Amino acid sequence: MSSMHTLDVALGDRAYRIHIGPGLLAESALWRPALRGRHVLIVSNDAVAPLYLARVVAGLDGLRHATLVLPDGEAHKTLDSAARIFAALATLGATRDAAVIALGGGVIGDLAGFAAACWMRGIDFIQMPTTLLAMVDSSVGGKTGVNLPAGKNLVGAFHQPRAVIADTATLATLPVREYRAGLAEMVKIGAIGDAGFFDWLEAHAEALVAREEAGLASAIAHSCAHKAGVVARDETEQGERALLNFGHSFGHALEVECGYGTLLHGEAVAIGMLQAASLSARLGWAGDADAARLRTLLERLGLPTALPPRLDPDALLARMALDKKNREGRLRLILWRGVGQAFIAEDVPAAAVRAVLDARSAS
Ligand code: NAD
Ligand code: GLY
Repeated sequence: MSSMHTLDVALGDRAYRIHIGPGLLAESALWRPALRGRHVLIVSNDAVAPLYLARVVAGLDGLRHATLVLPDGEAHKTLDSAARIFAALATLGATRDAAVIALGGGVIGDLAGFAAACWMRGIDFIQMPTTLLAMVDSSVGGKTGVNLPAGKNLVGAFHQPRAVIADTATLATLPVREYRAGLAEMVKIGAIGDAGFFDWLEAHAEALVAREEAGLASAIAHSCAHKAGVVARDETEQGERALLNFGHSFGHALEVECGYGTLLHGEAVAIGMLQAASLSARLGWAGDADAARLRTLLERLGLPTALPPRLDPDALLARMALDKKNREGRLRLILWRGVGQAFIAEDVPAAAVRAVLDARSAS
């Protein structure tokens, strides 16, 4: 197998490439062509910048560039942080042909992408994801945004990157919990629409946990290819793209109720997928065996599967009522008919959702 995988996201004149492989941050010849103007702002955080910023800066000579290093964490994915990016762009003198490079995980990617979408009504940005979650999910597809106290990602824009550069060597420094959280988004791809990939994940769970390079790079590429196909068919989530939110309505509610940063996004998605599978079984859409299979795989990957204790089911349900997928006050959730068969369920009865959210009944 080649050490680099290259995929295209087919979006007409906004099409872009995803490059996946070790050492790509230092290969500026690969990503410099995606920078069209003279001004570049690199946005990172204080955990990632000391490790990888110099590699990116080394590729920028000849361009007017600046760096903005934000505090680390989901708690900083805010409008205040976006305002700091706007101030840095103003100081740089960034014009419409400027670009933003997002160097970090999904928090930095969502935030910097959102700022790029807003600055002068939209400038280029390049995603340089450094977490597994960002490589397999958040860096692809152009969803950008920030959180509000009322909920996750409530303010945002669709704004596609010009390129995605996933340097898999950066995963070596990723803390184990963060790494495993990224595996949850891979499981999601198999769970929603690729039963063969789910089988593959079951067969390679231990190798993935051990971060074995060859299998990992091809699993990242496989996940990205699936997502790229969905995005090309349904960029703004009028239909099929909503399936990528399997487990997310539950997961977002858990993230907010537990307090941002308590549960990692991927951990919340893992628990949320299992809640969605339990609800599917309760409503007669799928068998219990599929939920059991999902639970076993998540456990082998070291992910949480149980609802955190002492959460109020009514508070969680109230959070879910604010989910972006809902229509006309009705709960709209991604459920499944079994592994690889997710679908959009309209008007899901709140009582059934509440029942699975009640930890005493959702075993
Ligand atoms: P994150 O960005 O907070 O990164 C996780 C942690 O790892 C942080 O502490 C970060 O500083 C650190 N880190 C990053 N790369 C590292 C490296 N190589 N070595 C050492 N430490 C490193 O979290 P995340 O899981 O990457 O992303 C979660 C965010 O992504 C959430 O805000 C979620 O809403 C968003 N998201 C967006 C989409 C989308 O389509 N836009 C999809 C999924 C998730
Ligand atoms: N992470 C879900 C999406 O990009 O649509």
